[in-house]
Amino acid sequence: MMKYFLPLIYFLAIISGCGRTDEVNLLADRVFSLAKTQYAQMDEALGDGQFPKSTDSEGNLVTSDAGWWCSGFYPGSLWYIYEYTGDETFRDIAWKHTRRLAVLKDRDTDHDIGFQINCSYGNGMRLTGDSTDAALYVECARILADRFTEGTGVTKSWNFLRNDWRYPVIIDNMMNLEILIKAAEMSGDNSLKEIAVRHAQTTLNNHFREDWSCWHLVDYDPETGAVRSKETVQGYSDGSSWARGQAWALYGYTMMYRETGMEEFLEAARNIGNMIMDRLPVDGIPYWDFDDPAIPEALKDASAGAIMASAFIELSSLSGDSRYLETARRQLLTLGSEEYLANPGGNGCFILKHGVGNIPGGTEIDVPLTYADYYFLEALVRYSIISSEE
Ligand code: GLY
Repeated sequence: MMKYFLPLIYFLAIISGCGRTDEVNLLADRVFSLAKTQYAQMDEALGDGQFPKSTDSEGNLVTSDAGWWCSGFYPGSLWYIYEYTGDETFRDIAWKHTRRLAVLKDRDTDHDIGFQINCSYGNGMRLTGDSTDAALYVECARILADRFTEGTGVTKSWNFLRNDWRYPVIIDNMMNLEILIKAAEMSGDNSLKEIAVRHAQTTLNNHFREDWSCWHLVDYDPETGAVRSKETVQGYSDGSSWARGQAWALYGYTMMYRETGMEEFLEAARNIGNMIMDRLPVDGIPYWDFDDPAIPEALKDASAGAIMASAFIELSSLSGDSRYLETARRQLLTLGSEEYLANPGGNGCFILKHGVGNIPGGTEIDVPLTYADYYFLEALVRYSIISSEE
């Protein structure tokens, strides 16, 4: 059922005569070498059940437990290091941290269980073909599916209610549909895939503005499915375009087209991608919110740049439009510059600097973020694969 993929380094070795002189490929070699050092050091620093979160103002590692929405990204990054380098030490470390997330099936989780389980177990099963944990993966997908109601046509994001929300759904949920589709394939329960498709279609109807930018949060009436409000939580204002939200939308619809072949999702991904390309600064890394009036003094968000780069590479392959790949190249080369890349002689944590977590909430501002690293590594792996195929 699960395909076995050779670690990428073996794959590259098989492609004889393939010149590795492309700037992004050279960058990938450097980044994965740095990643091996930084991620092995973080492994040594982490106790059982601890996951990296960020660094404090002194550059010390800040950790979370399995419940934090980002807990799957560290094991996920370890999987990409294994995929790229073929170093089996990283396969073993990746399984260790992946399996520490098994506790989530018995916890009070929200929609983020998709990120947590798919980035970790999803990559582990994809790369090793080991299906020991397939039942747990499907169980977690069902926990997410239980957040869906027919009346709304969407999975609910959070359990807490702020303002007068009744059924809040954030654009980030688009990322959590992949586990539903993969679990449908594994279990043969197609209702999981149907939920993913319904969620993506309802979101397409309600989350986007005329220019293809999106709101962060749409609140629904749980009885009628009517839209009650459209607002932001992590962006500059309700009417602004929070950069990571636009990145989640781009990645989510690209993934949904890959998984379903439904043209409406490709069209959405292209429209979102075109809107983003029109608004990106020259170096390709977005300001944390496209509409912050402080631009060009506003902070940039490396995480949004990395998510976009990974999505643009896939969208370019799926659509055959090379403009998306050119944008991704620009983004990756900027992220690989001295300004964004961690200093190899530094604190031994993370790969990218300058991530923006939540400015309105006053947390994780201009710091390393696990998801910035994860999507950066994923983008570099994707780039290496497509450039090997040329
Ligand atoms: N999913 C939460 C965030 O993007 O910050």
